[in-house]
Amino acid sequence: MHPSFMQLLHCPACASPLREAADTSLTCDCGRTFPVRVGVPDLVYPEHLLPSDVDARDQYDSVAEFYDDYAEWVCRTTNSNQAALRATLADRLELKPGDRVLEISCGTGLDLPPVVEKVGDHGTVAAIDLSAEMLRIASSRMAGLRPTVHFARCNAAYLPFADGAFDALLHFGGLNTFGELERSLAEMTRVVRVGGKVVIGDEGIAPWLLQTAYGRTIVRNDPLYRLQPPLAALPAHAQEVQLSWLLGNSFYLLEYRVGSQAPQLDLDLKIPGRNKTLRDVAAA
Ligand SMILES: C[S@@+](CC[C@H](N)C(=O)[O-])C[C@H]1O[C@@H](n2cnc3c(N)ncnc32)[C@H](O)[C@@H]1O
Ligand SMILES: [Zn+2]
Repeated sequence: MHPSFMQLLHCPACASPLREAADTSLTCDCGRTFPVRVGVPDLVYPEHLLPSDVDARDQYDSVAEFYDDYAEWVCRTTNSNQAALRATLADRLELKPGDRVLEISCGTGLDLPPVVEKVGDHGTVAAIDLSAEMLRIASSRMAGLRPTVHFARCNAAYLPFADGAFDALLHFGGLNTFGELERSLAEMTRVVRVGGKVVIGDEGIAPWLLQTAYGRTIVRNDPLYRLQPPLAALPAHAQEVQLSWLLGNSFYLLEYRVGSQAPQLDLDLKIPGRNKTLRDVAAA
């Protein structure tokens, strides 16, 4: 394992540092051992995944070979351009040369080329996914490109990375089927430093299109498009939250900056004209 990647990793079960054993597996003081297969550590936790995560893993393992064609069809069927989509996602991360960036659910790696280009030779790019087959294609796509992308097989709900390890994080396309949505959002926020950017998107047709012929056709083909952005599940310290739609307004895109704390109230200011404070209101 590359030392700069080892430095970012920790045990997904207990958050202690990991060590490389002589047989290249990663071990933790809690007694767990994580295998490394063809250079890719398998850090999936928990051992028994929720049924929806097992389904997603198995489904993506079985369609990995056709996934790129499917992604292109999703773009073209909404008259959108895939290169422009991937460039937009990388732009929203606000990356600078030398930054550390993590992609959650990288799939076959379609988002990675513009990300790698933005952080440059001195940057660090890590990419995780639950499907070994999707990761296999992603790692062959990125072979030979610099900086080297560090891949790992992980569950988004239990990330094997230290708090604040990254300057920015991207997730596109998997959230709707995650077994533990709120936990995954908390994890994605935890591993980004205060002030860093989180960019998340998935199927979710803009509400004003749901009842149009356009919306009904899209939802009939795939009911996941009926889902709406998980605004209520964002962590309290998400700041500068922005919501937009892309791919013909059929995918939502949520962006936020990681704040140092949740918004705070000054409880002791008198409310004009009411002769009381918010502290009085809270105590009533
Ligand atoms: C639609 S693909 C998106 C791939 C890529 N981000 C893209 O934009 O083309 C969804 C990905 O989410 C991954 N995934 C599903 N559940 C996951 C989980 N619990 N943790 C991490 N990745 C997961 C799948 O294996 C799959 O590669
Ligand atoms: Zn451990």
